Amino acid sequence: MSAPLVDIAGLVIGYDAAARQVRALDSASLQVREGETLAIVGESGSGKTTLGMAAGRLLPPEAQLLDGTITVAGVDVMQADDAALRRLRREKLGFVFQNPSTALDPTMRIGRQVALALGGQPGPEAVAALLARAELGDPERVLRAFPHELSGGMAQRVVIAMAIARAPQLLIADEPTASLDASIREKVMATLVRLRAESGASLVILSHDLRLIGRHADRVAVMYGGRIVELGAVAQVLQAPVHPYTRALLAAAAGNEVPGARLEPIQGTPPMLEGRCEACAYAPRCTFSVARCNSERPEAREVAGRLVVCHRAEEAIATGAMQPQEAR
Ligand SMILES: Nc1ncnc2c1ncn2[C@@H]1O[C@H](COP(=O)(O)OP(=O)(O)OP(=O)(O)O)[C@@H](O)[C@H]1O
Ligand SMILES: [Mg+2]
Repeated sequence: MSAPLVDIAGLVIGYDAAARQVRALDSASLQVREGETLAIVGESGSGKTTLGMAAGRLLPPEAQLLDGTITVAGVDVMQADDAALRRLRREKLGFVFQNPSTALDPTMRIGRQVALALGGQPGPEAVAALLARAELGDPERVLRAFPHELSGGMAQRVVIAMAIARAPQLLIADEPTASLDASIREKVMATLVRLRAESGASLVILSHDLRLIGRHADRVAVMYGGRIVELGAVAQVLQAPVHPYTRALLAAAAGNEVPGARLEPIQGTPPMLEGRCEACAYAPRCTFSVARCNSERPEAREVAGRLVVCHRAEEAIATGAMQPQEAR
């Protein structure tokens, strides 16, 4: 198999806050394969955005790299010089954020912004063709518009067009449809997924929406406390989850039939780490935890064809003591 497009190894990132440092990633490891759609799910604060932004070294100044590496298309992102980093961002990466209005310049017509994303001196036909690829109707009118004249869905399609303008190898979409009306979420997502397939790029979707992920991703990584706690094929992880946290997430989503809704909270609150977690970060909320879970940090192991970070995973599968339906 070819080398992974993205290789994140033991990444530790903290944010300097008033009197302490918040540990957003607590040794996160993950590989993204060429041409795949990988979803990263987890509750608010689990570290999804930090991981996504790290791929382009787009973290705010208060973020500190404490350990680990992240390699994207052969570039060691955290060590790259400015020129290499600019080239990586311009030629290899495309970002789509939750709120399109933050990605667009309110003072500039869409046509000019898209032309800048394309680079060089593209004519209006090339700009309109790119907008049409993102399924914007009447692209000639859109390119003369200012961002505030577009609906949220149209604005996000412009952002998607700009993200794919230079045929990136990696698209990172951070809750790309969360800010949109429920009625158009699926259509905008379908456009993003189609463009990924046409280009052969890899797509990483950061999301709370398990339903959306189930339909569109190849693999899913479940994040908790700044680590990937379960990683495998979508069918495996969503239909036969192993980690108690994945089970709790799915159970919460099962009772929540509103498409695109944010995850129902699980009993208890997620951790706010200030240093390396020396136990299982989920143990305080886990209905299956034993003494060891509170005193020993679990490491990633292959269990039932996927990676799981849980002391009790194998034992539980063997004894059938933790069937998914029991967690519901
Ligand atoms: N600029 C910042 N300064 C201080 N702490 C931060 C900053 N950005 C994120 N954090 C903290 O880092 C942790 C991870 O945040 P992150 O935004 O990566 O999570 P997330 O999974 O994307 O959450 P959400 O689902 O709400 O978008 C959280 O505890 C958060 O409070
Ligand atoms: Mg986020």
